[in-house]
Amino acid sequence: MSNRIIDFQIPQSLVMGVGASKRLPDILKKTGVKKVLIVTDQGIVKASLVPLICEPIEAAGIGVAVFDGVEPDPRIEIVSACVSAFQAAGAEAIIGLGGGSSIDIAKVASIVAAQSGLAGDYIGIGKVPGPGFPHFALPTTAGTGSEVTPIAVLSDTTAHLKKGIVSEYLYPRAAIIDPELMVSVPPSVTAYTGMDTLTHAIEAYTNRFAAPFIDAFALETIRLTGRHLRRAVTCGIDIEARAGMARAATLGGMCLGSVNTAAVHAMAYPLGGTYNVPHGLANTVLLPAVMEFNMPSNLDKFAAIAEALGEETCGLSTREAALLAIQAVKDLSVDIGIPQGMRYLGIPQDAIPTMAEGAIEVTRLMGNNPRTITVKDVQKIYENAY
Ligand SMILES: [Fe+2]
Repeated sequence: MSNRIIDFQIPQSLVMGVGASKRLPDILKKTGVKKVLIVTDQGIVKASLVPLICEPIEAAGIGVAVFDGVEPDPRIEIVSACVSAFQAAGAEAIIGLGGGSSIDIAKVASIVAAQSGLAGDYIGIGKVPGPGFPHFALPTTAGTGSEVTPIAVLSDTTAHLKKGIVSEYLYPRAAIIDPELMVSVPPSVTAYTGMDTLTHAIEAYTNRFAAPFIDAFALETIRLTGRHLRRAVTCGIDIEARAGMARAATLGGMCLGSVNTAAVHAMAYPLGGTYNVPHGLANTVLLPAVMEFNMPSNLDKFAAIAEALGEETCGLSTREAALLAIQAVKDLSVDIGIPQGMRYLGIPQDAIPTMAEGAIEVTRLMGNNPRTITVKDVQKIYENAY
């Protein structure tokens, strides 16, 4: 697949570094908007980040309203509530401030507020009919990488599944990535979101549709995660580790628009949709078992993952090095305190066949898996990850 033509897009502007969020008022002034809606959640409100962002915007003469009703793994209905807040405020732009959930709601609300139709109409690839209001992303976790992707994931509580909207109109006008906004993230969330980043990179790098240009981002994401995640979890105020993980999350996100993820993410959907397991945690418990299944599809790449994670592969056969990649991912997950198996997440074992049927239907991602995968394989992988 190395000759495949890739279409690589990112936000118009990417502002990154410690203190980057201080640039937001100037960025907004350039767009000429008079009022913005900040979309966020209660965790961010409690961490006192809202005034930190709002006050400089107001000081620049731009009005601010706040919608703080985003929930983890948000339901599609939250988009409508956010659009109502946007219209009631008379806002002209939207700022997603928070983890992937807030950024995703902001993305979709910017579209729904400008186009006719509901969020549910846009589920799938390329279903969004046109651009939305300008929207900006300020991630506070590292992360989903949503600030640099054309993807938003919402929970359909009727179908008990997560559903994705994929459209070039979902790229934010600017992504502002400031590690200082991430220092108050609790260790468990740092661990889950960091492993989500690692999963993006591993799934893009080993993808059936992998592309050498994207491989460069993926390998650097894996390297940065191996180097910084333990420190970011165990000492949240370590700004160097936070900055390393912020870079990893953004680079990992840049793997998604052109290549995207595969079986791990597809199999994580039922865990999130039915059992409310946080996205990154669901990925982490599944990742080693999916790697074991996929490893024969490309030993060289799995060996390269071990190396990128900092493992010593000198003197090992390619297969031994590839196996080491799986062990390295397990070791990282143990070191940062993640439960080692689905059994610890409140998921009954007899739910596995139903979950496998749900996961195999996520063809948007399953079709990317490097090894052809059947519903029986999915069941077996769930069993191995239990
Ligand atoms: Fe993810």
